[in-house]
Amino acid sequence: MTDLPLPAGVGRRLDPSRPIPPADQPALINALLAAVRDRTDLVPEVGIVLGSGLGGLADDLEDVVAIPFADLPGWPAATAHGHIGRLLLGVLGGRPVVMLQGRFHLYEGNDPGLVVQPVLLFHALGARIVVLTNAAGGLDPSFGPGTLMVMNDHINLTGRTPLHGRNADELGPRFNDMTDAWSPRLRARLHAAAAAEDVPLAEGVYVGLTGPSYETPAEVRMLAGLGGHAVGMSTVLECIAARWVGLEVCGVSLVTNAGAGYTGEPLTHEEVMESGLVAGPRLARVIRRFLTDLGDD
Ligand code: HPA
Repeated sequence: MTDLPLPAGVGRRLDPSRPIPPADQPALINALLAAVRDRTDLVPEVGIVLGSGLGGLADDLEDVVAIPFADLPGWPAATAHGHIGRLLLGVLGGRPVVMLQGRFHLYEGNDPGLVVQPVLLFHALGARIVVLTNAAGGLDPSFGPGTLMVMNDHINLTGRTPLHGRNADELGPRFNDMTDAWSPRLRARLHAAAAAEDVPLAEGVYVGLTGPSYETPAEVRMLAGLGGHAVGMSTVLECIAARWVGLEVCGVSLVTNAGAGYTGEPLTHEEVMESGLVAGPRLARVIRRFLTDLGDD
């Protein structure tokens, strides 16, 4: 892939809202890959995206190489509150992994093509599995703060997709199958890992919106009626891109608060971050065990 011409502007700080059609991704990912390979030869088996308040899992990495987003061509340095912007490569639970500490959100004005570049980079680095985590609001009334929910499907209500525009057939198909997008095999592995760690794990459908406003109570009722169990501002585009390139996807939502209107109290970002601090270590244990027990199949 090294001799592909780079689209104009690679290597400079770019407007994160500029459209990145699929056809531009191979050259852009190639530039990112080269920047990582300048620093490490590690070939990850698994890529992990750490959601708001879940960055602590990065502390457990061994033999870590940390690359600030600012050192990666085309990536904006700044990320949302609660997110440190770094790509980390190292060993966790005995397995080589790449982790994104911080992520790119639509509500920051990022183009969908930029939002999914970390996942495409995971794939280019050699990962075959991706674990997506996020903080979310509970739509299922039984999901209180601290609930961990394995995503078994999603509803993309962002109105956006990273796959609009000319396709890159070398990366993935024009028409991308989303049946079993959330791998039944890996979901079973997550449940087994949680059981081994004695951590309760729910399962349900994640609804992705753009944010950054939290939902109105009427929207929460509607989303629950549509079949959603948790709602957040990330993840769905990353899952679409991961499936496009053939990655096996799984993930866990950390429900940090009941959906708007359920308690009568206003929602605050601080509450979301605090729940992450309390429940984050439980999720970290599940993911570490998941990695250890993955085996070589
Ligand atoms: N809604 C959307 N995103 C969220 C929420 C919520 O209630 N909590 C954490 N992220």
